[in-house]
Amino acid sequence: MDKFIIKGGRRLTGEVTISGAKNAAVAILPAVILSDEPCIIENVPSISDVNICLRILTEMGAEVANIGKDAYRIDPTTIENFCVPYETARKMRASYYFLGALLGKFNKARVSMPGGCPLGDRPIDQHLKAFAALGAKYTLSQGMIDLKADKLRGSQIFFDVVTVGATMNAMLAAVKAEGLTIIENAAKEPHIVDLANFLNSMGANIMGAGTDVIKIRGVDKLRGCTYAVIPDQIEAGTFMAAIAATKGDAVIKNVIPKHLESITKKMEKIGVNIEQFDDSIHVWVDGPLVKANIKTAPHPGFPTDMQSQIATLLTLAEGTSIITENIWEQRFRYVDELRRMGADITVNGKVALIEGTGKLMGAPVKACDLRAGAALIIAGLAASGVTEIEDIFHIERGYDCMEGKLRALGADIEKISVPDKPQIKSADSKTA
Ligand code: EPZ
Repeated sequence: MDKFIIKGGRRLTGEVTISGAKNAAVAILPAVILSDEPCIIENVPSISDVNICLRILTEMGAEVANIGKDAYRIDPTTIENFCVPYETARKMRASYYFLGALLGKFNKARVSMPGGCPLGDRPIDQHLKAFAALGAKYTLSQGMIDLKADKLRGSQIFFDVVTVGATMNAMLAAVKAEGLTIIENAAKEPHIVDLANFLNSMGANIMGAGTDVIKIRGVDKLRGCTYAVIPDQIEAGTFMAAIAATKGDAVIKNVIPKHLESITKKMEKIGVNIEQFDDSIHVWVDGPLVKANIKTAPHPGFPTDMQSQIATLLTLAEGTSIITENIWEQRFRYVDELRRMGADITVNGKVALIEGTGKLMGAPVKACDLRAGAALIIAGLAASGVTEIEDIFHIERGYDCMEGKLRALGADIEKISVPDKPQIKSADSKTA
């Protein structure tokens, strides 16, 4: 089992380059299935969720070749298996994008119910609603979703909630459907636009991505292309919070400032200085951090995936901050771990009250999901003393070489491997 060991109290300075966006890459890689020719995908982050996608494509029969740093050539024309293996697919949430891609290409798909971060109830009813609207029938058996359609026909799809995953899946299933599909109440995240841009680069006809109404005219063929994944807005935001938490001064490169607008506005309210350039931002703190009120919302609101990171920063600010988590039922599970480090946070339903104490103390803590893990790294960097973070596999699902990037900014962080704890055998059972 791997751990991060962080000796806190060092200012982050220098520069860091952001990798490709996880939540764009895990949709674009399955989307290659829709092409009738090989594609080259660049700026692919080296993270475990991406590795799972590449493994699924390989197991299905696609030819996948790493052709350089962060670049892959994928030939989907050799795919002969339309079933995504249960054990592989259940490891991550985004495996459900193979449903939309396989259905859109072959009119059939068989994928396990998705896994992913334990954030509370994560239904897929809106995905199934979209597939049914296009003419697909689905059954669920042994934890596997089976989709079949005689023919996919364009339709009107109105989502009951704003959902990133279902918006992505509806696009994937509709790009080759006959006629016009209109998706209403669509999600508007940057990764939605990135998937639409990739599909249009292959010859799809998608208009309106990034707004709440997306129109798709089905096409017969999609051709190969070369496409670079956008930079990861959440990784960039995570580094903004880390630099601020250590009262550092650093430049974050390979970003799209427009994608960071809601994060930048909140950081500036907290007292973080941010100077924007074409594809980079300069972040520094030269005064006190002050309280703020944060409400998470679909894009362009404040992203839920930045909630735990900015909460950690607010434990160091003066005053009482309020965080309202409007997307996920259980996205405050990191609070117990921050309390071990001296944070004073009260959670009541979807609201957390943070009493800024201005300091944190190092402690042994455990990552319970991807962004919670990122929050604990930020806390460890700012804390006095040593912080040990267990279960860092959560972090490595979505951050590309986090410890290397932090060390380059001056952090004292290392990854160590320790033997798994022996299972405690009790008298009347094999394992406790
Ligand atoms: C994506 O999850 C991201 N994951 C999440 O990021 C992110 O938190 C989330 O979007 C919101 O931005 C990936 O892109 C792989 P949703 P997704 O469908 O698609 C409800 C991270 O840290 N809903 O937008 O699963 C749902 O319960 C991860 O990178 C339905 O009710 O999220 C939630 O309350 C964590 N029915 C809301 O919609 C459905 O069929 C938003 O979910 C689908 C969703």
